[in-house]
Amino acid sequence: MERVALPRPRTAGRYRVAVVCLGNICRSPMAHVVLEARVAEAGLADRVEVVSSGTAGWHVGKPMDPRAAATLSAAGYDPSRHRARQFEAGWFDDVDLVLVMDAANRSDVLALADQPGHPAQVAMFRDFDPAEPGAEVPDPYYGGDDGFQEVLAMVERSSSRLVALLAEQLADEPGGPSGG
Ligand code: 4NP
Repeated sequence: MERVALPRPRTAGRYRVAVVCLGNICRSPMAHVVLEARVAEAGLADRVEVVSSGTAGWHVGKPMDPRAAATLSAAGYDPSRHRARQFEAGWFDDVDLVLVMDAANRSDVLALADQPGHPAQVAMFRDFDPAEPGAEVPDPYYGGDDGFQEVLAMVERSSSRLVALLAEQLADEPGGPSGG
């Protein structure tokens, strides 16, 4: 697969990735937990920070959907620390990369962009899915358990690829293995 360009870090310190869906109780929490696990496995926990939020504020402060939590637990991940947050315009200045789950999330996030550089920080989470680059992560909220299993497979594939790219990029940055 061709190399996908990641935005360069806005500031020194950790590279910050925000994962965004609608409610921040199903898809983006699953992506958050899986991506954070991949980051840790790659030895990048002190170089990459993962956060997540929803474009809607309905569930702010709540844990993730029990179906999302059960799917993660069964696969060996810890869903317990999640509390839902809402995406706000200020997040563009706090993070380097905003990864959205579907086209509606993307337009909702882009509607909050208020600086020329902000749109370039936004990408689809599945831009990094080798199986179907650029596809949406479908909303499993109104469906059955199969939908959560499918979301898990999508976020696992995408997270592995994204972390490989982050490792390459961070190796070129000051503070990385080759940057001193
Ligand atoms: P998510 O799924 O965006 O993946 O967290 C949803 C969660 C809640 C609702 C819709 C989608 N809702 O309508 O409350």
